Amino acid sequence: MCDSCQKKFYITTPIYYPSAKLHIGHTYCTVATDAMARYKRLQGYDVMFLTGTDEHGQKIEDKAREAGVTPKQFVDNIVEGKGGVKDLWKLMNISYDRFIRTTDDYHVEAIQKIFRKMYDNGDIYKGTYRGKYCKPCESFWTESQLVDGKCPDCGGEVQDAEEEAYFFRLSKYADRVRDLLENTDFLEPRSRVNEMINNFIKPGLEDLCVSRTSFTWGIPVDFDPGHVVYVWIDALFNYMTAMGFENEKYDDLDKFWPADVHFVGKEIVRFHSIIWPAMLMSLNLPLPKKVYGHGWLLLDGGKMSKSKGNVVDPYVLAERFGVDALRFFLLRSFPFGSDGNFSNELLISTINTDLANDLGNLVSRTVAMAQKYFGEHLPQAQQADEEKDAELLAMASALRDQYEEQMEHYAFQNALAEIFKVISRANKYIDENAPWILAKSEESKPRLARVLYNLLETVRICGGLLAPFMPDTAAEIAKRLGGAEMDWDSLNRFGVLNPEAAVVAGPALFPRIDMEKELAALEELNKPAKPALEIEPYAEEKVDFDTFCRSDLRAVKVKDCQSVKKSDKLLCFTLDDGTGTDRQILSGIAKYYKPEELVGKTLVAIVNLPPRKMMGKESNGMLLSAVHSEKGEEKLNLVMVSDAIPAGAKLC
Ligand code: MSP
Repeated sequence: MCDSCQKKFYITTPIYYPSAKLHIGHTYCTVATDAMARYKRLQGYDVMFLTGTDEHGQKIEDKAREAGVTPKQFVDNIVEGKGGVKDLWKLMNISYDRFIRTTDDYHVEAIQKIFRKMYDNGDIYKGTYRGKYCKPCESFWTESQLVDGKCPDCGGEVQDAEEEAYFFRLSKYADRVRDLLENTDFLEPRSRVNEMINNFIKPGLEDLCVSRTSFTWGIPVDFDPGHVVYVWIDALFNYMTAMGFENEKYDDLDKFWPADVHFVGKEIVRFHSIIWPAMLMSLNLPLPKKVYGHGWLLLDGGKMSKSKGNVVDPYVLAERFGVDALRFFLLRSFPFGSDGNFSNELLISTINTDLANDLGNLVSRTVAMAQKYFGEHLPQAQQADEEKDAELLAMASALRDQYEEQMEHYAFQNALAEIFKVISRANKYIDENAPWILAKSEESKPRLARVLYNLLETVRICGGLLAPFMPDTAAEIAKRLGGAEMDWDSLNRFGVLNPEAAVVAGPALFPRIDMEKELAALEELNKPAKPALEIEPYAEEKVDFDTFCRSDLRAVKVKDCQSVKKSDKLLCFTLDDGTGTDRQILSGIAKYYKPEELVGKTLVAIVNLPPRKMMGKESNGMLLSAVHSEKGEEKLNLVMVSDAIPAGAKLC
């Protein structure tokens, strides 16, 4: 197929806010997007699957300050670090084609140009912002939008806010946006349209505040320093800048814009279905073809959060149950457009019923019987038996079209249900035809061959259609069928399997999980870790306040740190203590730290101890550290304080 004739498909996930580690709720949307992207690739589309991280805003600035690092260091760690966003997507087998970080230079520059364009065309103007601001959601609200005086999204407290700010003329686009929502399929499922119309459009769209001056961690408005661009403008345009809009880094805009679909969680539908199209209208740009607002995974009926423990940690779940089982569970158990209640019981029972029993057994039994009764090679099939085979053959041959119908509507749960209807039918077919009885006489061997061929073909079709959901499992099934073809065109045809190929038996695809034991193990994991800490007994003797105050404790910055020759204990620190003259302190902590990892850190030293010589070097003070023992092993952590504290600051 020539390049320009190839069908294109551009799909996106929301770019994640790296203020904390991701939980299974975040993973849900990305797994769904991945399944859709893989499905489209299977159909022969040239797919662009974009994901990334949304890295600006006050919350990140605050969190970084708490952690004593710069905002960039903070986000770098969560995005690129061990166990971070990229690691998680790798683990979950997410086949994204591009990853955007909103701190990427090309994006930052593009956003500045975009902001200026809307300013130049009059859709962004300067005014005074008076209203309410929800810090955790980074959202501005008018009084009328609040629910019981609280943020309508998260239910949290809002603050009064008044400042000079830029505004986007959202009100100007109210009628066009309403028309888009009411009279097209732009936003799905339909229930979300009603939410948008009733909650936001009917009360009246007011102009949107699109700049902030109270913090700096954002993209500066280049023609008005002091203002940073509202994080949602910065974030929404990622879908275009990552394709090359207003930048030279990429050149895929003509090919992929407008996007075919943005998958987004329900609480951010407002941004995607009202603000986003309005801004695109302002710039005369084509609108994305669709926004799909999926539901939330709930835990005990409430919002999921990392604080609820390990049960929602995708790393823990993937490790215990396997990546494919977890991916499958997420899309099999909940209708994509509605909320769903996550529970470990449901996860385990889904794995046991669908994967261990139905799919796993079908594959194992079929392959094992083909091998046992016919040796290496697949049986040459005779004619199908009109009566006995008709239903299975009809179901398996029609499966691809039924699956496609569901997938085209993002109805992952239904698409999987179609596959599992055929799997159940095939298991029943084994019982009906009892291959073990057919195997008893030579006369019925041709029929046995046909029965097994029908089963193997059914497994091939089901395996191929499961590939977008469980890529590794599908590859394993193909291998067990002797390298069976599973491309799209072969999946609505019965009789494709090459009888010459050798089937390969293997261990159970999904071993059964003992529900009780597993739940107990998960509960154990979810208990707050017992402090393995053996705490030193507290001192009985009191010191009076003046005595305590005589200890001069100061913040010091590590300029240099070296090991000390012939000592395996000592590190020699050169410290900035704010006086302008370097201070040298020796500390017996070589066992716990590499010298280079301490350079640049802000530590605490007691500086009025008498000088002391160690290994021929003078030490002028002592660095404070915390010592405890864990499982009999001594642990030490230097006391590190925020880098915002200047060298020499007195601690009291
Ligand atoms: N940064 C914004 C998106 C900007 S897109 C231009 C954001 N980030 S987020 O990290 O807070 O959320 C990312 C996605 O995860 C959202 O679509 C959100 O709905 C989804 N989920 C977070 N918790 C969820 C569940 N418990 N269940 C399902 N999805 C959930 O919003």
